Amino acid sequence: MPDTIMLQVTRYRPESEGAPTVQEYEVPLREEWAVLDGLNYVKDHLDGTLSFRWSCRMGICGSCGMTVNGDPALSCGTFLTDHAPGPVRVEPLANFPVIRDLVVEIDDFLLKLPEVKPWLVRDDDGVDGVEFLQTPEQLDAYKQYSMCINCMLCYSACPVYGIEPDFLGPAAIALAQRYNLDSRDQGAHQRLDVLATDAGVWACTYVGECTRACPKGVDPAGAIQRYKLTAAARTLLPWGKR
Ligand code: SF4
Ligand code: FES
Repeated sequence: MPDTIMLQVTRYRPESEGAPTVQEYEVPLREEWAVLDGLNYVKDHLDGTLSFRWSCRMGICGSCGMTVNGDPALSCGTFLTDHAPGPVRVEPLANFPVIRDLVVEIDDFLLKLPEVKPWLVRDDDGVDGVEFLQTPEQLDAYKQYSMCINCMLCYSACPVYGIEPDFLGPAAIALAQRYNLDSRDQGAHQRLDVLATDAGVWACTYVGECTRACPKGVDPAGAIQRYKLTAAARTLLPWGKR
């Protein structure tokens, strides 16, 4: 195995540059190093002006999403050795405006997310001292969808989001399902108005790239298909329950 590997990193300052450029950096190739370690080596030793986001280094915070050799990936969970001998192309996530270098603007998602009420909705909010018990089976019904870390890899992978900016998108719909399927929640009716629309589940053409890209096994495509059935049933049977 060679001692070093070449990173080809997108550089871009939209306020002063007309187009992105690519800059090459040679970094140590170590067995335990992820792409994020390579970028931190660049930042610490080669070029302090390189901008990128990260925090936890363990697939929890969701902030280090980038495009690595063409695929959306968590840079802290993508090992350099898997791309040896290189070069490794590192670009910002697709489908989002670039703020600088590898840092993208995700305000669109943050503005859309509250529309699906990603919290427990109760008719009896404010009842003090009431425990809403849940069985392990009831937890299993939604647990998969609760693993989302808002990393935006699914939005970057989704061809529909790339051409339909109004689309709520995979993670927002998966998070809506997380609460719809929670036995303690009573807000499915409120979410239906937002989700059973052209900008909601009906925008999805079931390409499935979101689920393939998800590093946490959330399966947003499955959540969307499941919700399409619910939405269709409600249209045909307006008195039906979820
Ligand atoms: S659904 Fe998966 S890919 Fe999409 S934001 Fe959540 S964790 Fe990331
Ligand atoms: S740094 Fe937190 S998920 Fe990668």
